[in-house]
Amino acid sequence: MKIAILPGDGIGPEIVAQAVKVLERLRRDGLKIEMEQAPIGGAGYDASGDPLPAKTLDVARRADAVLLGAVGGPKYDNLPRPSRPEQGLLRIRKELALFANLRPATVYPELAAASTLKPEVVAGLDILIVRELTGDIYFGQPRGIRANARGEQEGFDTMLYSEPEIRRIAHVGFQAARKRGKKLCSVDKANVLETSQLWRGVVTDVAKEYPDVALSHMYVDNAAMQLVRNPGQFDVMVTGNMFGDILSDEASMLTGSIGMLPSASLDANNKGLYEPIHGSAPDIAGKDLANPLATILSAAMMLRYSLREERAADRVEEAVKKALAQGFRTADISEAGARKVGTREMGDAVAAAL
Ligand code: IPM
Ligand code: MG
Repeated sequence: MKIAILPGDGIGPEIVAQAVKVLERLRRDGLKIEMEQAPIGGAGYDASGDPLPAKTLDVARRADAVLLGAVGGPKYDNLPRPSRPEQGLLRIRKELALFANLRPATVYPELAAASTLKPEVVAGLDILIVRELTGDIYFGQPRGIRANARGEQEGFDTMLYSEPEIRRIAHVGFQAARKRGKKLCSVDKANVLETSQLWRGVVTDVAKEYPDVALSHMYVDNAAMQLVRNPGQFDVMVTGNMFGDILSDEASMLTGSIGMLPSASLDANNKGLYEPIHGSAPDIAGKDLANPLATILSAAMMLRYSLREERAADRVEEAVKKALAQGFRTADISEAGARKVGTREMGDAVAAAL
């Protein structure tokens, strides 16, 4: 099995190196994988003037799965939009048709105190956000900045979802719920937006095929509030690209640190791109401070969903739990009395726990 390794920018290379360390360890134990590295984001721009170089896309296409670090950095902030690192990420999602983004927010018992919410509110939390990833206002046309009739500048974007796009992500949501707590909450803004009105109708229709799953609908503003008021009420949440972007950052903080959350972006055949949900954190890049666990857990998701190596996936997740139980903490999840370690040492701890 071929894995494309795209470290990207900022802390990307150092956290991906820890996940590679874990994968190398599994390979020594007999896992048949080959890894090929390629630049994306700012690194792609630096290498060839394109945040998604043709060669990188080719490596990703030929691979069975893609493991990505993060993209972006202040150095690239003033580039024209098509050259920006984020475009590399958005384009690879679109090019590989990775429409289903799974973002689990799980609270590890050892970290319940690291959340800014009361431990009793977040204890035992296990939410899965299913975010549509290749449509919505992120990709809708037309968009632009233009002069209006009064000669003023105006910016505009188009929120757009087709029925098939809604249908296929709704199926992913229902199927995920079926394997878990059998509750699906669809998040929209149907009281204001036409797109959401269609969304709600289509999700309600798809629900007929899943009588065993309890479907509810929630407006996105209420969902944002309920996530901090009583997050335990949620099992699986399904939502559009932009609402999912926002809610998944919010949900990550329930778990104590955004540095803990992995994600999978899947196409219709379970080929996937796996990445931590956090960004490139340029402020701490190269300082051996970043938490590599979200990336290591993304590698575990990759083993489970794309490579179908359940056993190896379990082992990696167990190893992360063990490293946490042994008291290893990077700065973002550190508390008094913890064994504070850097990026590399955390990677070593997980590899050793394997
Ligand atoms: C994410 C990120 C991206 C997004 C950015 C970097 C384009 O915030 O993966 O959540 O908005 O999808
Ligand atoms: Mg985001």
